[in-house]
Amino acid sequence: MQNVLIRRGRPEDAHHFSELVILTSPVIFPIVFGSDVKKIMKSIFTHGRHYYSFDRSFFAEVDGKTAGMAQLHKLIARKGQTVRLSLLLLKYLNWRLPAKAVNLLKFDRLIKFIARDDCYLSNVSIYPEFRSAGVGTKLLAAVEEEVKSVGKKRIVLHAETHNARAISLYERLGYKIESKSQPLKIRNRLFESFKMAKSVIS
Ligand SMILES: CC(C)(COP(=O)(O)OP(=O)(O)OC[C@H]1O[C@@H](n2cnc3c(N)ncnc32)[C@H](O)[C@@H]1OP(=O)(O)O)[C@@H](O)C(=O)NCCC(=O)NCCS
Repeated sequence: MQNVLIRRGRPEDAHHFSELVILTSPVIFPIVFGSDVKKIMKSIFTHGRHYYSFDRSFFAEVDGKTAGMAQLHKLIARKGQTVRLSLLLLKYLNWRLPAKAVNLLKFDRLIKFIARDDCYLSNVSIYPEFRSAGVGTKLLAAVEEEVKSVGKKRIVLHAETHNARAISLYERLGYKIESKSQPLKIRNRLFESFKMAKSVIS
C-alpha cells in the first residue's frame, strides 16, 4: 500500500468535500439540496462550526492525493448548529426559503438522541479508485484516536440499511448495530438507516 496520510480538514479542501460528501448518499443529497448541491456544499464547508464544516473533517491522502474524508462531531450542540447551518444554506440559496430546508430538518432528527459522552461520525467517503485498499480503515483508526484523546466514550454513526459495504467495514472495526432508525420520508421515498456504535474505552 502506498503512503497514507490522515490530516485535519482545511477550507481549501472544499472541492474534494463537495465531491466526497455526495458519494455517501448520491440519491438523498440532490433531493435535499437541489441540483446546485455541489456548489452549496463547497461554499458552506469553508465556514466553521456546523455539521458540514471543514473544522469537523479529516482527510486521507494517498501519495499526496486526496483519497477520502470523514467528519467527526464532538459535541452535539444541536439547536445552535442547526440554526447556523440553516442560515448558511439560506445565504447560499439566495434567501429562497425552500422545501429543501424542511428535508434538512428531518436529517436533524437522526442525531437528536446522541448522548453527551458520544462523538458522532458522519460522511465517511473514499473515492472509488482508492477503495478496498485499507484507506477507510486507516481514516477511521485516526478518528478513533481523536475521540479517545478528547475523553469521549463512544462513536455513533448512521448507515443506510442497504449500504452493505459500509456496514461490513464498520462491523469489522467493532461497531455494533444498536437500532433501526425511524425511516425518513423525503419526496415520497423512504430512507432507512441503522444506528451503529462502538465503545472506545480501553
Ligand atoms: C465504505 C467505504 C468508506 C469503505 O472505504 P475503503 O477505503 O474501501 O475501506 P477499506 O479498504 O478500509 O475496507 C474495505 C475492504 O477492503 C479490504 N481491505 C482492507 N485493507 C485492505 C488492503 N490493505 N488491501 C486490500 N484490501 C483491503 C477489506 O477486506 C475491506 O472489506 P470488508 O470491510 O468488507 O471486510 C467506501 O466504500 C466508500 O466511500 N463508499 C461510498 C460512501 C459510503 O457509502 N460511505 C459510508 C456512509 S455510512
